[in-house]
Amino acid sequence: MTQDSGAVDFTGQVVIVTGAGGGLGSAIAREIARRGAAVIANDLGGPVTGGAGAHDHRFADHVVEAITAAGGRAIASYDDIAGEAGARRVVALALSQFGRIDAVIANAGTMRFGAFEAMSLADLQALLAVHVGGAWTIAQAAWPHMRAAGYGRLVFATSSAGMLGNAMLSAYGAAKGAVMGLMHGLSESGRDHGILCNAYMPNAITRMTEGIGASDLGDNPWSMPLAACFDPAYAAGLVSYLASAACVTTHGIYSSLGGRIGRAFIGITDGVTADGPIDAETVAAQWPRIGDPERGYTIPSNNTDEWRIVAEQRGL
Ligand SMILES: NC(=O)c1ccc[n+]([C@@H]2O[C@H](COP(=O)([O-])OP(=O)(O)OC[C@H]3O[C@@H](n4cnc5c(N)ncnc54)[C@H](O)[C@@H]3O)[C@@H](O)[C@H]2O)c1
Repeated sequence: MTQDSGAVDFTGQVVIVTGAGGGLGSAIAREIARRGAAVIANDLGGPVTGGAGAHDHRFADHVVEAITAAGGRAIASYDDIAGEAGARRVVALALSQFGRIDAVIANAGTMRFGAFEAMSLADLQALLAVHVGGAWTIAQAAWPHMRAAGYGRLVFATSSAGMLGNAMLSAYGAAKGAVMGLMHGLSESGRDHGILCNAYMPNAITRMTEGIGASDLGDNPWSMPLAACFDPAYAAGLVSYLASAACVTTHGIYSSLGGRIGRAFIGITDGVTADGPIDAETVAAQWPRIGDPERGYTIPSNNTDEWRIVAEQRGL
């Protein structure tokens, strides 16, 4: 679908994409380069589950080759963004080769799939290190340059497993939930400095997801009618927009699924209010009202906004 209400143009801009050699990262990096950006295509080329293992430069190289073959500009980075030193090298490469950083797409990720009982603390920690640690390090390395420029776009890959939940993805979902927490905080930190932060929840058949079959998920999503729309290219338009100057909103979470792009949000019901502490019996009696969004809800824009809303509801 093409509908032109203004160009999403990256001419003269420099964009870092982590995990650029993977399914989604490659589609995103190529689309942004096609729109004029010089791209740092970062990928350490590791196994899908992360951890120790051979690192393959071809992950980053193949996307750089595709971009340059199409007439675009890109440089490969093989650094591990789960560590501060690696993330700092990625940013230094962008500055030394292209002189600026306009956007960072924190897309690198790994996956450990299985029932909660089968997951260990080590699995959780490995996922946290890459997803939230890797988003943290690359954002923190780029941050001073964006602050100095008074402009920046940070775009974070999160997941419906973190936002909505999946029984087989407790550790992965916890890591992706933490990425959303990071995005919430950085949105508020960046707001007054021209740094806008948003997150995307993609759904795509890539090496990360293709092995998940019917026996793992019950109804196998890849056999559903929507599966035809699970090419990574379906998420590339959304992420390009969020990384561009055309995007002027911050603090959002957006879903790309099966040909639909929509906004996910966190709302709080109007619930019940009182002048003093509300006891457990009242909570029990009011439970349907507390849980019912049909009776009204708000979408606080940050945590102090929730204070403002409650004060207003209570007429204070
Ligand atoms: N595919 C989906 O349906 C889906 C759904 C929700 C979220 N996501 C998220 O989207 C992002 C991209 O996933 P994908 O499906 O393209 O998977 P993918 O495995 O194809 O790509 C991920 C890439 O990240 C790279 N990577 C991993 N750890 C790294 C590190 N420490 N430093 C640098 N690079 C690293 C890998 O080498 C790989 O190429 C991930 O964050 C993933 O969690 C994907």
